[in-house]
Amino acid sequence: MKRILITGANKGIGLATVAKLLGSYDETFLLLGSRDSKKGQQALNSLLDIQPEWKDRLDLIQIDVEQDLSVNSAAEEVVTKFGKTPSPLYAIVNNAGIGDSMLGLNKVLQVNTFGPKRVCDAFLPLLNPSIGRVVNVTSASGPLYLAGSSNETKKLLTNPEVSWTEIEKFMSECLKLESERTTDWGGDWSAYGISKACTNAYSIYLAKKNPNLTINACTPGFIETDLTRPMAESNGKTPAEMGMKSPEEGVSASVFLLMGNPSGSGHYYGSDCVRSPLDKYRSPGDPPYTG
Ligand SMILES: NC(=O)c1ccc[n+]([C@@H]2O[C@H](COP(=O)([O-])OP(=O)(O)OC[C@H]3O[C@@H](n4cnc5c(N)ncnc54)[C@H](OP(=O)(O)O)[C@@H]3O)[C@@H](O)[C@H]2O)c1
Repeated sequence: MKRILITGANKGIGLATVAKLLGSYDETFLLLGSRDSKKGQQALNSLLDIQPEWKDRLDLIQIDVEQDLSVNSAAEEVVTKFGKTPSPLYAIVNNAGIGDSMLGLNKVLQVNTFGPKRVCDAFLPLLNPSIGRVVNVTSASGPLYLAGSSNETKKLLTNPEVSWTEIEKFMSECLKLESERTTDWGGDWSAYGISKACTNAYSIYLAKKNPNLTINACTPGFIETDLTRPMAESNGKTPAEMGMKSPEEGVSASVFLLMGNPSGSGHYYGSDCVRSPLDKYRSPGDPPYTG
């Protein structure tokens, strides 16, 4: 059994990813992560309504990626339930995320960047050390943010040798600029872009540090969920008119990085499961990035 933890899986792309894995990969066991146990239980029940037999391959885990205590307790719960040896987990999908930059950079970073770091710090020791995988669900907002950034920022956050200390320092500098309001953040979505660019850089760092694991990041595409619906509303358009796809269509890259054969580690993939650059947008269908 390949046991896989997916954070933020009570709805949206996370829930669709759990359903896809249960439906298409018999060898998987899913830990459906939810920060709210009640919402998590409802999501789990919705899956069992579709397919009651999934109950033997599905478990709920309460995990708020913003809280050290919650993440560490969740890791302890996994050890209690499944033991520590052999390694209880095959993979982690850091899917939990928030999209509202108006919540402020600190909040967005705490969930979207420190969240995956917290989860990896606690759960990496539980991953199969030879075949374990991590998927960080980031966003094309990361490359779009870097495309408009200084050469120095681009160089830092795409550096194959980047360290967590450097990423943290960069985030601190951004927080300082935000608090001083000395810069124009260039729109509502830039805190989000910063957080995702930093999580892409974190994926590079983590992959380098753990050469036996397969660690990659990806964008799900432009998907209709609670995270994106407000964008359609504010534009006076329907999600379809905005070009948003269904959550079921947003799972391909995560599932490929979990169950397929990505070449290498520390890379970023587009929603079409093709490797993409970290500092400019690559449209689905464009040639793969090979740098
Ligand atoms: N939708 C898109 O077009 C799109 C595009 C690019 C990237 N993404 C990324 O895809 C991922 C999933 O997003 P989605 O579109 O499916 O959004 P969503 O429907 O809003 O789902 C987000 C999930 O993250 C959870 N979450 C938020 N804060 C959390 C925290 N502190 N701890 C644990 N869980 C937390 C939410 O839980 P609650 O229900 O409790 O709030 C929810 O389960 C995110 O990382 C997002 O940035 C989405």
